[in-house]
Amino acid sequence: MVSFVQLVVKIREIFEQKLIDIDEVMRLLASYNSNMREWRRFAIFDHNKYTRNLVDVGNGRYNLMILCWGPGMASSVHDHTEAHCFVKILDGELTETKFGWPRKRHVPLDVSENKTYKKNMVSYMNDDLGLHRMENLSHSNGAVSLHLYIPPYDTCNAFDERTGKKTKCTVTFYSKYGRKIDHRGNKNG
Ligand code: SIN
Repeated sequence: MVSFVQLVVKIREIFEQKLIDIDEVMRLLASYNSNMREWRRFAIFDHNKYTRNLVDVGNGRYNLMILCWGPGMASSVHDHTEAHCFVKILDGELTETKFGWPRKRHVPLDVSENKTYKKNMVSYMNDDLGLHRMENLSHSNGAVSLHLYIPPYDTCNAFDERTGKKTKCTVTFYSKYGRKIDHRGNKNG
């Protein structure tokens, strides 16, 4: 069994190799038994939106981050800018809805899959599998998830579920290495 710190170190080691073995990464993430005491310094919630909290950048090769979802919070329907996206649930539950890429303009996106991930479960997504939305369907409980994006990206596309309309969006961090970022992108304190 690995601790959270050991998990971060092992992820760094795995990505020293050029080749990405998706199953190996999923096995590693699954081998961590979530312990809130080990990761809570990164888990900073906001009342109004889900937060993205940077944990590690693995020498610029990837972004490892903790996302904090208040009750009812959801991401947009989005793509992944040709990155691999691994998600492990650290606390609570998240529901993933997968969609096909828009086929025509002004037509609702097709749902291809809907699955709820519970604590310690791991999911994988990339652009070949389509688009997805992650959401915390609970009315009362928060959820915390660990996301690994390789290569890292700072823009992606969001899609309107009813029309397929695409909008470019910038992805930002709420905190880095456990310290909140102000609106200009600097670390506070
Ligand atoms: C995000 O990274 O902001 C959305 C969550 C995801 O891609 O799984």
